[in-house]
Amino acid sequence: MLTESTIAIVKSTAPILEEHGEALTRHFYRRMFEKNPEVAPFFNSANQAAGAQQKALAAAICAYAANIDNLTVLGGAVELIAQKHASLQIKPEHYPIVGSNLLASIREVLGEGATDEVIAAWGEAYGFLADIFIGREQQIYHEHRDMPHGWEGFKTFRVVRKEPENDVITSFYLEPADGSGVPAFKPGQYITVRVPSPCGHTTMRNYSLSDKPGQPWFRISVKRELAIEASKPDGFASNYLHQAVQVGAHLEVGPPCGEFILDPSEHHTRPLVLLSGGIGITPIMSILLSALEQTPERQVVFIHGSLNAGTHAFKGTLDALAKAHRNLVVRYRYNDATEEELTADQRLSLGFIDAELIESLVPDRDGDYYFCGPQPFMAGIYHQLLAWGMPPAQTHFEFFGPRQELEKPRLNRCPV
Ligand SMILES: Cc1cc2nc3c(=O)[nH]c(=O)nc-3n(C[C@H](O)[C@H](O)[C@H](O)COP(=O)(O)OP(=O)(O)OC[C@H]3O[C@@H](n4cnc5c(N)ncnc54)[C@H](O)[C@@H]3O)c2cc1C
Ligand code: HEM
Repeated sequence: MLTESTIAIVKSTAPILEEHGEALTRHFYRRMFEKNPEVAPFFNSANQAAGAQQKALAAAICAYAANIDNLTVLGGAVELIAQKHASLQIKPEHYPIVGSNLLASIREVLGEGATDEVIAAWGEAYGFLADIFIGREQQIYHEHRDMPHGWEGFKTFRVVRKEPENDVITSFYLEPADGSGVPAFKPGQYITVRVPSPCGHTTMRNYSLSDKPGQPWFRISVKRELAIEASKPDGFASNYLHQAVQVGAHLEVGPPCGEFILDPSEHHTRPLVLLSGGIGITPIMSILLSALEQTPERQVVFIHGSLNAGTHAFKGTLDALAKAHRNLVVRYRYNDATEEELTADQRLSLGFIDAELIESLVPDRDGDYYFCGPQPFMAGIYHQLLAWGMPPAQTHFEFFGPRQELEKPRLNRCPV
């Protein structure tokens, strides 16, 4: 356990960390990659370039300092980070590397504020938090290893089918190259794909499983990410998958991870409300397919927002599901749709997913909400749910990158 004085000292640093958190974590990553380049391949350089990873770590450190006297409030955050670490094969031996660079960075960035007493307290507090993560991550690794058809680390899968879903998204069907089976996973979870990187190392990306559990394959559906401006590189892994990986190719795959999950054994009577924007449809598809199979009586509302028909994935499947399942209501919102498209499909309307549309489909607004999409889309939905007084246990969301803040309510103007 942490001593009273450590708790008091760490808590007293919360305001200064709040002020300097991102400067600290930017310095920390620069320092760590220089002193310990062996850990660089674990990190996605695009997340560093965008500052997203620095922000996520700064937020975690600030939250830890502020809540060190009541760590139960951090439970959800610990699970999210432990699942992310396990997906990337972070091991106990990596913690001292992060710890020593973090403490040195606190000293270097905070200057006189970082007295020996503060550094000693943070050293103890870091060790305590590291042990929490190490313990949970060990459990996850053992669960992966011990489940039927499970494994630890990376396993070679073969691409057995490659199928374009639209102009920008392609699905890859993956089966174990050794002919063994595919383990069960929870709808909403993601796998990790490790590919060779241009610098001769490897790089890893998470991809949500877009099919239901129980199939002989894992299916991932990948959007080809292009640079937003000519001077920047295109997304590396998504273009590699689209262009270099054909049927028959082998891919290194890590076991399913993640805490954005539907537990079909929980038999709620409330409607299940599934909202997706753009490529955020992938975990939502898995949740939808599983719910229809496992809880056929439960009302399901599915709304997908897309730029236009060309970027709308899985439309054929969704139309067929809506026809086959009386308990399913499907709606689409495009930013851009032609008159013909709007007339041809009564489910389609123009604009963004908004409160009015959701309310018109969910009686009393009461539902279990699962949503995934770009940050403004998620922020809009999250704030609407908060404004409606939705209990946190009924709101579930996934970021396709380091977790960002969900501020700035803009439900009526959210681009997808
Ligand atoms: C839990 C989870 C689930 C996910 N599920 C899916 C999924 O189902 N389908 C899916 O398609 N994606 C999914 N993702 C996203 C996926 O992991 C990748 O982030 C995505 O494919 C982009 O990776 P990339 O290597 O192509 O792009 P990266 O190389 O990582 O680049 C990302 C973006 O940053 C830009 N960029 C790169 N380097 C720089 C630089 N130096 N300066 C400025 N800009 C730069 C690129 O142009 C690109 O737009 C998921 C992510 C998470 C965390
Ligand atoms: C107590 C120590 C640690 C804390 C508080 C911490 C915190 C975090 C947080 C908040 C995230 C972002 C999660 C998300 O929103 O997706 C993250 C991701 C990550 N962490 Fe840690 N972490 C710690 C230790 C480590 C260690 C020891 C390593 C090993 C080198 C590591 C490597 C990573 C990587 C590679 C990612 C994903 C980054 C990316 O997407 O590029 N972390 N961690």
